[in-house]
Amino acid sequence: MRKRIETSVFLIGLLALAGCEKPADGGASKQQGANAAAARTAAWVNPDLDPEQIRRGRQVFEANCQECHGPGGKGQGGDWRERRPNGMFPPPPLDDSAHAWHHPTAILKRSVRNGSPPGWGDMPAWEGKLTEAQIDDVVVYIKSLWSPEVYRHWTEIEKRSLEN
Ligand code: HEC
Repeated sequence: MRKRIETSVFLIGLLALAGCEKPADGGASKQQGANAAAARTAAWVNPDLDPEQIRRGRQVFEANCQECHGPGGKGQGGDWRERRPNGMFPPPPLDDSAHAWHHPTAILKRSVRNGSPPGWGDMPAWEGKLTEAQIDDVVVYIKSLWSPEVYRHWTEIEKRSLEN
């Protein structure tokens, strides 16, 4: 029994680290979110990120994304893993309480450019509506919402994605 639990914890960890596509990592990110909340300090400003870019990205976010993803990217409450009655997933939080931090920069930017895959959600595609620079900025803003601990995990995910 003990062994089984250990194995599944290991597998969940692997899924999370693999930056898995879409849900299926439930427990891990929930736990991560709880850890992150505990570790977060209001004063933390990520030294890896350009403050000017964060500021610009925040403006892009507030003008285009906040209505769905909530102020500070905190989402809309409720379970973001559960489809709505119309079959679509709700907008998830983009801070470190959900899934966004499992994705390397290239995937985050792709999500923003392309919007939701058909039948998945109602996020519009931003390609052509936002410039590449604005998409860069808003993704940096999203990263600025992550705690030091989660950001450190994310840098590993990013590094691995660049090696492949
Ligand atoms: C009309 C509502 C809506 C708006 C506006 C919107 N989104 Fe989304 N977004 C969603 C939904 C729904 C999902 C989840 C389904 C999916 O992954 O496509 C999502 C998913 C995402 C994801 C993937 C998150 C993950 O955990 O994999 C990112 C990143 C994202 N949005 C960024 C943005 C940014 C940046 C903007 C503004 C430029 C934006 N969204 C505007 C509804 C919206």
